[in-house]
Amino acid sequence: MVTNAIPRFPAGFLWGVSTSAHQIEGAADEREPSVWDAFTAEPGRVKDGSTAAVACDHYHRYPEDVTLLAGLGVDAYRFSVSWPRVNSPKGLDFYDRLVDELCTAGVRPVPTLFHWDLPLGLDWLERDTASRFAEYVALVATRLGDRVTKWITLNEPAEHTLLGHALGAHAPGRRLLFDALPVAHHQLLAHGLAVRALRAAGAADIGIANSHGPTWAASPDPADMEAAAFYDLLLNRLFAEPIILGEYPEGIGESMPGDVESDLEVIAEPIDWYGVNYYAPTRVGAPQGTEIEFGGLPIPAELPFSVREIEDRPVTDFGWPVVPEALTELLTGFRDRYGDRLPPVVITENGCSYEGLDDQDRIAYLDGHIRALHRAVEAGVDVRGYFVWSLLDNFEWAEGYARRFGLVHVDYSSLERTPKASYRWFRDVLRAQG
Ligand code: NOJ
Repeated sequence: MVTNAIPRFPAGFLWGVSTSAHQIEGAADEREPSVWDAFTAEPGRVKDGSTAAVACDHYHRYPEDVTLLAGLGVDAYRFSVSWPRVNSPKGLDFYDRLVDELCTAGVRPVPTLFHWDLPLGLDWLERDTASRFAEYVALVATRLGDRVTKWITLNEPAEHTLLGHALGAHAPGRRLLFDALPVAHHQLLAHGLAVRALRAAGAADIGIANSHGPTWAASPDPADMEAAAFYDLLLNRLFAEPIILGEYPEGIGESMPGDVESDLEVIAEPIDWYGVNYYAPTRVGAPQGTEIEFGGLPIPAELPFSVREIEDRPVTDFGWPVVPEALTELLTGFRDRYGDRLPPVVITENGCSYEGLDDQDRIAYLDGHIRALHRAVEAGVDVRGYFVWSLLDNFEWAEGYARRFGLVHVDYSSLERTPKASYRWFRDVLRAQG
């Protein structure tokens, strides 16, 4: 049982929870298809064989979910707008109603404009997808911009590139390894064009949600150190530096398509804050010369690194190590690396998968991470907000419904929502923060 009060965060700190469209909405027959619908229809792609056709049925039950948000007392709710839904006739009406409902409940809407559900037929290997994205963003901003005052362009382009296009574990299921790099560039370009489209529509307070975590070398051996530095480049620098510094890390720009220098000017369009999704650090060593499975992921032998177990740490039901202090390390490391050029940071996701309604292990995870975040604030990192992943149990991509990240339990047969112990705990944390 966690008892000591969490220290106070600075005034104006934004507390919230996050979800994404494909993972909770359902109502797949009331929108255009996405690459994820096609992927989940292929046998063997999702571990439990499930799809997100119904998911939490949030599309029809959103008023109940907004009531849960209001009961939790969050300042803000991060959700995603489904591009394939916006492409269907009544799609934008749904987000219009959702945003109204949130505003009435006093919860600030924070939409993410792309959370992996690319309209079927589009392809991030094509440069044109970035321009198409900017057109869609302009449409959403025009419709919702009178009530939405905080925006997120993309969610985890690193995972979408790596899992979806390099390793084939996520949609669209390609296994291109380093030939997937153009997918990274085109998403970054899409981000920059979206920032411009949002500003043109009068929007302010724009950020991105990138996934990051400290990379720990398996040993001080130079081969392990080199492999870890390369992994760090892929996970932590490739998607941050074009945005924060206007340049790719050494050796990467040459692999990118098009006029990279002029694209970088678009990509580095100033943002107001930088979103970090943090779950766990990674231990990385020299390649071991064989294909391995790690945390459900295929790690091909050709990669110049291998991922190792982090020992002596508790793990979540997903097998991810629980290392709260690595969040402090990550943020102070970012501050040391980028100095004044690092925009204010918002933790756009942090959470864990555990079973059960009396989820004391989730409470311990969140408590530890919020304290670790506070230590980063004390160390001088400008952190402006924290969002728990996730409000609801939901469709965890290739894992299907087996992983439960919610503060609220969802019974997938009755679709009944039941707040867990962690929901009441987080509500009390928010009350104590005022
Ligand atoms: C990152 C992703 O943004 C989200 O969709 C996913 O469910 C969580 N991490 C947990 O894996």
